[in-house]
Amino acid sequence: MGTDFPVFVVCVATIGSRFVSSAAAKVILFGEHAVVYGQPAIAMPISSLRAYAEVESTNTPFQIIAQDLNNKIITFEGDDPLSQVVRLALEAMNVPTPDVSIVVRSDIPIASGLGSGAAISTAIIRCLLEYFDVVIPREAINEIVYEVEKIHHGTPSGIDNTVIVYEQAIYYVRDNPIEMIGIQNQVQLVVADTGTTALTKPAVADVRRLYEKEENIKQVIEDIGTIASDAKQAMQSGNNDLLGNLMLKNHEFLQKLTVSSDELDRLVDAAMSAGAKGAKLSGGGRGGNMIALVDNNSSENVIEVLKSAGAKRVFETTLEKTS
Ligand code: PMV
Repeated sequence: MGTDFPVFVVCVATIGSRFVSSAAAKVILFGEHAVVYGQPAIAMPISSLRAYAEVESTNTPFQIIAQDLNNKIITFEGDDPLSQVVRLALEAMNVPTPDVSIVVRSDIPIASGLGSGAAISTAIIRCLLEYFDVVIPREAINEIVYEVEKIHHGTPSGIDNTVIVYEQAIYYVRDNPIEMIGIQNQVQLVVADTGTTALTKPAVADVRRLYEKEENIKQVIEDIGTIASDAKQAMQSGNNDLLGNLMLKNHEFLQKLTVSSDELDRLVDAAMSAGAKGAKLSGGGRGGNMIALVDNNSSENVIEVLKSAGAKRVFETTLEKTS
């Protein structure tokens, strides 16, 4: 995961002796699942939807308080993934375990394909960096979050941690340098939650079984890679009609990988009937969120129709034109 990007820590605010940091959610626009097999994928951050970590000095031993899990206490030595985040971060920073409480909370729904785990890990690392007033390369932060993603996902491609740590739209190929995408036309998305949570790990494992058993699945994975590569060009040339068609095609291939669901398919159909240019599931699938490409004329209608079709939470996010 080599990169030439400058090192800095983003979204950190100092409040007296407390430090609050945050990290964005993400959506995968193209290429989920195929990215595990070395195919390209495209992801973008959702900067308006974030996880937060607040660190404060205490007289008690180190602890994390997970506000969204009924104020669950997580210790330094524990086997929780968040304990591992802290251990790896302190090791990378070369500092002792501090007597602090870190309160973690997140607006990102869990197990919904929006990168909640990677965002929480990133927010915790940023807040420890701020607390100790230390800078480490973003690449090192990315490596730590990736290590912890392995606990959640088994064999993650690295796309989630990368888009969240860099907080920019990326064209991602596993083990290759990260590529930022320049965009000619804004990409306006409606994100709709099926309300069903689904873990990524079993979906990835099922696709692996299918890949090993059925010869045609290798072709499906390659076709998804071609779609992601075509989508990069469509974004660079500002061709959103083509981008929408590619989203639909990508969704059909994800259906073949058995990672869609009736609810996801229903929301995709609903978005298309309401005037979206394209729609697809996003992330691990089997539940979680779908995304629809809209414009100013269609967005309101798409939102209303998705709500009527049973979406539990619907919001808009836009990737602005870069050139
Ligand atoms: O964490 P999710 O649900 O957004 O899924 C990650 C994307 C996958 O391609 C399914 C897995 C991976 O590691 O890339």
